[in-house]
Amino acid sequence: MDKKNIDWSNLGFGYIETEKRFVSNYKNGAWDEGVLTEDSKVVISECAGVLQYAQTVFEGLKAYTTEDGKVVCFRPDLNASRFADSASRLEMPVFPEDRFVEAVVETVKANIDYVPPYGSGATLYLRPYMFGSNPVIGVKPAEEYQFRIFCTPVGPYFKGGAKPITIKVSDFDRAAPHGTGHIKAGLNYAMSLHAIVTAHKEGFDENMYLDAATRTKVEETGGANFLFVTKDGKVVTPKSDSILPSITRRSLMTVAKDILGLEVEERTVYFEEVKDFAECGLCGTAAVISPVGKIYDHGNEICFPSGMEEMGPVTKKLYDTLTGIQMGRLEAPKGWIKEIQ
Ligand code: PLP
Ligand code: COI
Repeated sequence: MDKKNIDWSNLGFGYIETEKRFVSNYKNGAWDEGVLTEDSKVVISECAGVLQYAQTVFEGLKAYTTEDGKVVCFRPDLNASRFADSASRLEMPVFPEDRFVEAVVETVKANIDYVPPYGSGATLYLRPYMFGSNPVIGVKPAEEYQFRIFCTPVGPYFKGGAKPITIKVSDFDRAAPHGTGHIKAGLNYAMSLHAIVTAHKEGFDENMYLDAATRTKVEETGGANFLFVTKDGKVVTPKSDSILPSITRRSLMTVAKDILGLEVEERTVYFEEVKDFAECGLCGTAAVISPVGKIYDHGNEICFPSGMEEMGPVTKKLYDTLTGIQMGRLEAPKGWIKEIQ
């Protein structure tokens, strides 16, 4: 088999249908074996739990071609465990974590010709997800579920790749205290759509959400956690129960501390102190690390010293080290790389 004829270097973050996807169904209290299928269509009841009450959770991870030609995934076990947490919070059955990782491997293997080549700047994005599939009309959890994983080759999430972006402090809230901000549920993204469309219309790339209770603390964006760098080189990330525990952010904090020897802090970050940081970045699977050049806050602008042309020096070191590990140029901490082929 040969690599598909795709213009890998010019891909954006979009959906391209690939050949195979993994599907498993939950019925009568048990998951079936699961199969790979070429059928990309989902047929469910008009009254399915997902359609009526948004009972759906998902994950996002990537497969990479390494410098020496292997295909690998980055920490899929952490996606498996976060997926289990998301499912439990929405009263859905847990998809066994070991089978989640096996299904990721099977899906990548079945679509190996869609894994972008090393050096192209593109990766294969995997989207595991689960939804309530049987009819539900009273408000209650479904009894039947479908788990699926599809994959699609992608380029950078933000146009311009590693160029700094401009974000705005949102007037909308993303997650309530004691709500669902810490899990990857479709409902968190549905309610962010109006906020992101508004931000785009106003010329901003993303939103910075503050905590809903006091609007004084930095939470995250619609699809990534924040990393800040202090003027004396410390890496700081917001701690909050209502943000998604980003696997990229957790990995970067380890990279910063154990590989780069930097001081790190996970703590409450007040919006008031953001103007004093030297660098700001968004981190996530899709975003990798996207540098933030400017934050707009109701008529005031915070401009980071690194400017609008390039990443700040610490952000760049973090970016190079993380992508070096993912692409096999640097040795990975134990257990971070799952070899597919
Ligand atoms: N925060 C939100 C709201 C997200 O949707 C994502 C994407 O998955 C992240 C953070 C980053 O998480 P991760 O690094 O695990 O992809
Ligand atoms: C990811 O980074 O995998 C995400 O799910 C973010 C999403 C907003 C594209």
